[in-house]
Amino acid sequence: MLVLGIESSCDETALALFDEHKGLLGHVLHSQIALHNSYGGVVPELASRDHIRKISPLLENLLKTTNTSPNDIDGIAYTSGPGLAGALLVGATYAKTLSYAWKIPAIAVNHMEGHLLAPMLEDNKPSFPHLALLASGGHTQLIEVNNFGKYFLLGDTFDDAAGEAFDKTAKLLGLGYPGGVIISKYAKEGTPGKFTFPRPILNKHNLNFSFSGLKTNVLNTVKKCKKLDTQTKKDIAFAFEDAITDTLAIKTKKALIQTNLKELVISGGVGANSKLREKINIVCKKLNVKVYYPKIEFCTDNGAMIAYAGFQRLKNNFKDLDFAIKVTPRWPITQETSTTI
Ligand code: KG4
Ligand code: ZN
Repeated sequence: MLVLGIESSCDETALALFDEHKGLLGHVLHSQIALHNSYGGVVPELASRDHIRKISPLLENLLKTTNTSPNDIDGIAYTSGPGLAGALLVGATYAKTLSYAWKIPAIAVNHMEGHLLAPMLEDNKPSFPHLALLASGGHTQLIEVNNFGKYFLLGDTFDDAAGEAFDKTAKLLGLGYPGGVIISKYAKEGTPGKFTFPRPILNKHNLNFSFSGLKTNVLNTVKKCKKLDTQTKKDIAFAFEDAITDTLAIKTKKALIQTNLKELVISGGVGANSKLREKINIVCKKLNVKVYYPKIEFCTDNGAMIAYAGFQRLKNNFKDLDFAIKVTPRWPITQETSTTI
């Protein structure tokens, strides 16, 4: 079975082809970072328009570079949520149109399930059940992954997501958008101990997160600084990254102990963070847990993870029931969609 994956939930237009036997045949991506950078965040209307512009040329490119004809494709997986409604509608409409024209099934995929399953694109795959830390721009969740589609939410964020906290801190420091990569770069040259931020809600017994207080701490620190020079920005970036990665690693450790699971997946954009990976590796060594990371390029949004998640569903006879174009901008990962059987 060969599946075309389409991702358009936010600011990346991405497509990929996943083959049941050969694995990932190819993937293409257009990032809108340059388009949104001057606004300090994603402008939904601009995002939708850009997806419309880029989606067809990307498909043509993918088919050409993988030497694939539409006749070879057995199904189409598209991100149906969560995400920006207008952006999702572009991918969903495109997928449903191709499904109708090519007479093959389409399947709505939850973007967060795509992130969860991204490590399965590698040769060395996690097995079930395992624990997953899903840390992206919109989500920070600890999930017990019992099987494909069988997800139990152990912990969630009360307010800002981890990636959002990176992005807001970068904005406060005048470092542009998105914040994760640039904060991480600045933090590498920061002076340890110059600033210290709290580790949010570590004293609580539950597995939930809250990062808005951390953001306020950064804001107050920035306000207090007489001169926000480059070195001060690097020192703040260091303290911020240290606090947030500590929080994520400590809560993940707590979840591992609580569930006694011996395999761990770290996914989502923040999963690309090298400091977080260092800390998680230490935790896993101590607890004798095997940890799996997606490739860096598959931590952030991509079409490969959507093609893979869709392949798993189509293989198990899930498919959209009709050609109606539906998106689910708020779609909890624990909830099945009504468009599938
Ligand atoms: O998973 P993703 O691409 O999109 C969502 O589904 O939200 O995650 C994007 C988020 C952004 O907030 C970005 O700042 C963050 O992931 N991010 C990082 C890194 N790379 C991306 N955060 C920390 N360190 C990184 N290296
Ligand atoms: Zn994402």
